Amino acid sequence: MNAAVFDAQEFRKALGAFATGVTIITTSGADGAPVGLTANSFNSVSLDPPMVLWSLANSAASLGTFRRAEYWAVHVLASDQEELSARFARRGIDKFAGLEYDAGRGGIPLLRGCMARFVCRTASQYEGGDHLIFVGEVLDFDRSEAAPLVFHAGRYAHATHRDSQATRPREAALAGSFSEDFLGYLLGRSHFAFFGQLRDSLEREGLNDMEFYVLSTLSLQPILSDEELARGLPGIAEERWQQALDSLVMRGFAHTRQRDGVAYELSERGRRCALRLISQAKALESKVLERFDAGEAAALKSLLGRLLGAIDEGADAIWKPR
Ligand SMILES: Cc1cc2nc3c(=O)[nH]c(=O)nc-3n(C[C@H](O)[C@H](O)[C@H](O)COP(=O)(O)O)c2cc1C
Repeated sequence: MNAAVFDAQEFRKALGAFATGVTIITTSGADGAPVGLTANSFNSVSLDPPMVLWSLANSAASLGTFRRAEYWAVHVLASDQEELSARFARRGIDKFAGLEYDAGRGGIPLLRGCMARFVCRTASQYEGGDHLIFVGEVLDFDRSEAAPLVFHAGRYAHATHRDSQATRPREAALAGSFSEDFLGYLLGRSHFAFFGQLRDSLEREGLNDMEFYVLSTLSLQPILSDEELARGLPGIAEERWQQALDSLVMRGFAHTRQRDGVAYELSERGRRCALRLISQAKALESKVLERFDAGEAAALKSLLGRLLGAIDEGADAIWKPR
């Protein structure tokens, strides 16, 4: 491989194999106007003295301002700051419009809600092909516990920690049986273990598991037809959920209504019961997710959401406002 035969797109893709965090680098112009851009070229250089670097495209509108700037700040973004990252990667807009920020050394803008911030003084600038490399001495920094925003292969990503205790998944004692990392086992067992912890609450409300699933599904929309309910309860035999539905209607948790055929809605009693159970289920969710950090919890939900999208076409429809 040499520069003459390099395919630019392939080169970009190869560079994108290197997963990075995402930063926003800010400074201010001679007129005091705030300037900033999204950059993932940030890196640490030296611990003592503390130094960092990043590189700026020669084509960037902010090049002249950064070239002349004595101070600049690097903001390491948290996983909930994807929109901020997109905003600072756009050219020709007022990137700071409506944004709350503080003034740092030399009046440079310091953004809020970031994972870490480094206030730097330019130590050196180096030409680096079509970029200018800035090396800065770190004058000040702060940080907070949060999940990082990650960039990989041209897309935003989640970071999750690997399980240091992980051992090889076990096979069942019987040959030809499932193994511990079989998706159906992980999903099924998690499902039963999770909802098993709600059993006492369900019993207090006089509901069995299936009645709870039907009640929860009915709480998603003001009114649902048989067909829509079936789509909300995928993989469950019709007679099982129908029986639970009949029992909910008989006991006054839900009503039937005429809407292009028979449709169902929760009664006031059903709605109040659903609210109580949903708040207990949410408390259970918080308790379970305490064992994960924010990035891991977001990654877990994101992957499960993608799994649902891949295997359950009806999942999307039940959430759409009618
Ligand atoms: C995740 C991500 C990382 C980026 N990293 C850099 C970078 O390290 N250096 C750079 O010059 N541009 C980088 N960009 C592009 C700039 O953010 C973008 O060109 C911006 O509009 C430049 O701002 P300006 O032209 O207003 O100065 C990155 C964009 C994204 C989305």
